[in-house]
Amino acid sequence: MSYRRGALIVLEGVDKAGKTTQCKQLVHALQQSGRPAEMMRFPDRTTQIGQLISSYLEKKNNLEDHTVHLLFSANRWEMVPLIKKKLDQGITLVVDRYAFSGVAFTSAKPGFTLEWCKQPDVGLPKPDLVMFLQLNPNVAAERGEFGTERYETSVFQRTVQQRFEQLMKDTSVNWKVIDAARSIEAVHNDIKVLCENSINESENLPLGELWK
Ligand code: TMP
Repeated sequence: MSYRRGALIVLEGVDKAGKTTQCKQLVHALQQSGRPAEMMRFPDRTTQIGQLISSYLEKKNNLEDHTVHLLFSANRWEMVPLIKKKLDQGITLVVDRYAFSGVAFTSAKPGFTLEWCKQPDVGLPKPDLVMFLQLNPNVAAERGEFGTERYETSVFQRTVQQRFEQLMKDTSVNWKVIDAARSIEAVHNDIKVLCENSINESENLPLGELWK
């Protein structure tokens, strides 16, 4: 039998776009159709680095902006052995945020360029598919108040959205933009089809390296 790896699928988008709900539904649907799939999320707050990030986001501690950017990246790198192992085992990974959030959020801060922000994540496992859940900031605001964590303000999220738009111009990444203003079910159906196609296309291809 030929070698078949799992696909690395990422969901990105600004807050309130429905990423977490869609990741969970996607994993469930893939499992129901007999495809091994698991969810991952970044930041992964369970590790030591993740706990530092979590208390920063909860505003329990302050970290210098470059430092926290590198910690977010380190939090991805520390999961790389596990990501590769799972993909090798034929498990498709559905990931809630990845390096794109890392770059979009830090570069939304004053004094950071997109190029600087990308560097620490260069060479990470390259997603086979990145689905961007597109949601107008006004519609996002109608979905309820932001929480109390750092970055959860409309002004900051608008800048984050602009940075994502800059990142999406890079055709070396397989971006698909999904209109997230529709019903959960309609969005889910689109995501599922794109994901199944990606699983079929990538199963015999080697895993790429991001931004290399
Ligand atoms: P979460 O709400 O999905 O757990 O994400 C936590 C916050 O961290 C969210 O505001 C986005 C931000 N973030 C970064 O600033 N850099 C990163 O690398 C990642 C993955 C998330």
